[in-house]
Amino acid sequence: MKPLVDPDILEKCSLYPDYVEAKLGFRNHWYPTLLSEELAEGEFKAHEILGDRLLLTRVDGEVFAVRDRCLHRGVPFSRKPECYKKGTITCWYHAFTFDMASGELVDIMTNPRSNLIGKTGIAAFPVQEAKGLIFIFMGDDEPAALKDDVPPGFLDEDVCIRGIRQEVAANWRIGCENGFDSTHVFIHKESILLDGNDIALPLGFVPTSRDTFKVVTEEEGPKGIYDLLAEHCEPVFEGTVQGETVLQGHMGETRVASDISIWLPGVLRVDPWPDPSLTQFEWYVPIDEERHYYIATLGRKIATSEDESAFADEFENKWKDLALRGFNDDDIWAREAQQTFYKNDEAWYKEQLFEPDRNISKWRQLASEHNRGIQRYEHLL
Ligand code: FES
Ligand SMILES: [Fe+2]
Repeated sequence: MKPLVDPDILEKCSLYPDYVEAKLGFRNHWYPTLLSEELAEGEFKAHEILGDRLLLTRVDGEVFAVRDRCLHRGVPFSRKPECYKKGTITCWYHAFTFDMASGELVDIMTNPRSNLIGKTGIAAFPVQEAKGLIFIFMGDDEPAALKDDVPPGFLDEDVCIRGIRQEVAANWRIGCENGFDSTHVFIHKESILLDGNDIALPLGFVPTSRDTFKVVTEEEGPKGIYDLLAEHCEPVFEGTVQGETVLQGHMGETRVASDISIWLPGVLRVDPWPDPSLTQFEWYVPIDEERHYYIATLGRKIATSEDESAFADEFENKWKDLALRGFNDDDIWAREAQQTFYKNDEAWYKEQLFEPDRNISKWRQLASEHNRGIQRYEHLL
């Protein structure tokens, strides 16, 4: 298969070649697509992910996904979705009709005696809905267990999840690295989240040893890496330039973000955040080489249905705008600013990392060694 990146560049990035090549993401993993609430019964929606175009629908509550491209002459069904029998999609052009669950060509209304009927079809993708997100397995291998592709705790029965989805004009890897980058905290120093909030938010972190991370690669379960900030880093609260103090970090009593981890295929967990009772889980899902969906969610442990509706209200009235938009808008802004440099493949060796970035290099290595395949343009044909 054709390499996505010049082999000379891959040679220069020999610690993590797969990662440098995976500009469209990793294949044979589960990715969240739409929020459950974005797809109503009987509705059809187009969705682009890993360079591929999908068509999603919901039938009797269950979600199905096929490639949004007609077998006959390649048009997208989503241009004008036509459905004459539940669970099927009919192409608006010449009426080839496909089963949404299997992708099989089940009829052609313009030529009902065609020999093609029942013998061919389009790609259908495995779907699972969990915690208010629609996950799709992007690949052709036997699907892995969903729990192997989400951070620990996300699927726990007593955890309630609420979130939002946004489009960001930057490659998905820039998203991962922005989230996992400990010293990027500097961009949040004027965040509205800090107004009247007692959280401690330093300007940066000085690693006090080389062991500031823990790698998790057991056979079973998700593969990821923890940044052990609280144990092995000294927070920096005073910003100095040439001996003069010019800035102060936000000194508060409430400790948050003591446990930050990133997991394949590109999802971050920050625990606790933005409040001691919450955990943030956020995905950076490749759309194409230059865009990703930022699916940011908050989880809280709940015991009763009253807890659940109290969390739903708190999410809508407070955290959605203050944290997932207000605070994380800084991150979106930073990622889009970084894209200009990293859209050039040479950036992966021309960058100059510094000591606290060791966790980022470790993440790149882990992703290179434990991914289930690289998404390539050949897979879209
Ligand atoms: S292009 Fe779809 S039926 Fe002809
Ligand atoms: Fe951030």
